[in-house]
Amino acid sequence: MSMGESDRRADDSAAIPRHVGIVMDGNGRWAAGQGLGRSEGHRAGAMRVRPIVEACIDHGIKYLTVYALSTENWSRPREEIDILLELIGKSLQAERKAIFENRIRIKVLGSLDPIPPPLRISIRQMERATANFDRLTLNMAFNYGGRAEIVRAVKGLMQDGIDAEDVTEDLLERYLYTAGQPAPDLIIRTGGQQRLSNFLMWQSAYAEFYWTAALWPDFDAAEFGKAIRDFSGRKRRYGGVETGTGTPGALGDG
Ligand code: IPE
Ligand code: IPE
Ligand code: MG
Repeated sequence: MSMGESDRRADDSAAIPRHVGIVMDGNGRWAAGQGLGRSEGHRAGAMRVRPIVEACIDHGIKYLTVYALSTENWSRPREEIDILLELIGKSLQAERKAIFENRIRIKVLGSLDPIPPPLRISIRQMERATANFDRLTLNMAFNYGGRAEIVRAVKGLMQDGIDAEDVTEDLLERYLYTAGQPAPDLIIRTGGQQRLSNFLMWQSAYAEFYWTAALWPDFDAAEFGKAIRDFSGRKRRYGGVETGTGTPGALGDG
């Protein structure tokens, strides 16, 4: 399924997003508010992923992308980076059984080149072992940056010797980490800031945004449900005109 196709979906299932992206922000501030160090905030934040994954399954959402580490986060102190890397590895191990029982497909968006080999290998093994699961695809945006992803796609096109006149939006999408997946319908950002911070830049062209002041370690299934209900009440137009049915109107073929 191409992303273009998903953008032009025109039926009532628009009420439930097929793909939700989450910028999990506010761990540091949560920790400060509790009189704890930032590491404790990240630990508490890591615990919040599982209930949101379960909520996605309950809502029938098929794709969830969580922003775990940005390409810009490497500018943080080394100790903090080490904690974040350690937490990713530990969470994947701790959740391994639940991932298999729930038939969750794990996919990393981002380059694992700078990731220490033991973690890199275990992530790749998890991706391979879950590649055929289809209940929920859990994309982990990890060492991810939207700009870096687009540069990587352009390099891929050039390395494959694609002629400039053959480059189309659909073709470029096939070189993104999210190739073959629908674009995010809804992007949630916790922590109060209203910005993308280099998350899914290409894919979010027609996403609906939901900003909440809730800090990520406080974000639970009830808060998630609020975001989904808010999304369900919105009318998406995709550049077309209002049709009165809540479905995209007057769409060209691209
Ligand atoms: C989000 O929480 C987690 C990552 C960026 C990895 P922060 O660490 O950015 O928390 P705040 O924004 O400082 O509160
Ligand atoms: C975005 O949060 C990245 C992740 C949640 C992984 P940041 O805390 O890094 O974003 P800025 O720096 O506030 O834009
Ligand atoms: Mg932050």
